[in-house]
Amino acid sequence: MELALPSVPAATDDGDPARRNAPAIHRIDAAIEAMRRICSDLRPSLLDNMGLCAAIEWLAQDVQERAGIRCQVRLQGFTEEPTPDQGTAVFRIVQEAVTNAIRHANASTLRISQRLNGSGAIISVADDGRGIKPTELAGRKSFGIVGMHERAKGFGGRVSVSGGRRGTKVTILVPP
Ligand SMILES: Nc1ncnc2c1ncn2[C@@H]1O[C@H](COP(=O)(O)OP(=O)(O)OP(=O)(O)O)[C@@H](O)[C@H]1O
Ligand SMILES: [Mg+2]
Repeated sequence: MELALPSVPAATDDGDPARRNAPAIHRIDAAIEAMRRICSDLRPSLLDNMGLCAAIEWLAQDVQERAGIRCQVRLQGFTEEPTPDQGTAVFRIVQEAVTNAIRHANASTLRISQRLNGSGAIISVADDGRGIKPTELAGRKSFGIVGMHERAKGFGGRVSVSGGRRGTKVTILVPP
């Protein structure tokens, strides 16, 4: 999939923090925009052809290249590929967790893992950023985290979001 990104403005060092940070902010905006576009046509092109684990690996690679955040991915694989609906829902949850890490965490590393749990699976996305506050978790003004819970409910799974001062971890329980 070819994604055209706008050109990145050159860094300036005239002492103005806003100007100094402009290239990094631009890069993050571009990564989020790229992810939105991937999201809109993801189902047919990526998940169907490659399966959930390969799609997650691709996402991590893309984030690493575009947002400059190191991504460590450890995926055990599934004995049986999740159903298309389940695969899409899980991928979108992972995608929202990754987008949140890029937007809010100021993280340098993301760890994405998947392991089998009986005949189900546990998938987690953990960042080493600023952490998420209880008030942010409880807040219902934005839809990302609420949407993760709703999507998981849709396939009989569960999402938990935990965080302290050392990063945030999103865990997805996929039932058998
Ligand atoms: N990985 C993270 N690290 C730090 N803070 C986070 C992280 N993920 C979420 N947050 C905080 O929790 C809030 C709620 O997240 P949520 O995804 O629901 O909303 P949002 O990202 O602000 O908006 P959107 O509706 O576009 O997803 C965020 O605004 C942010 O303050
Ligand atoms: Mg969000």
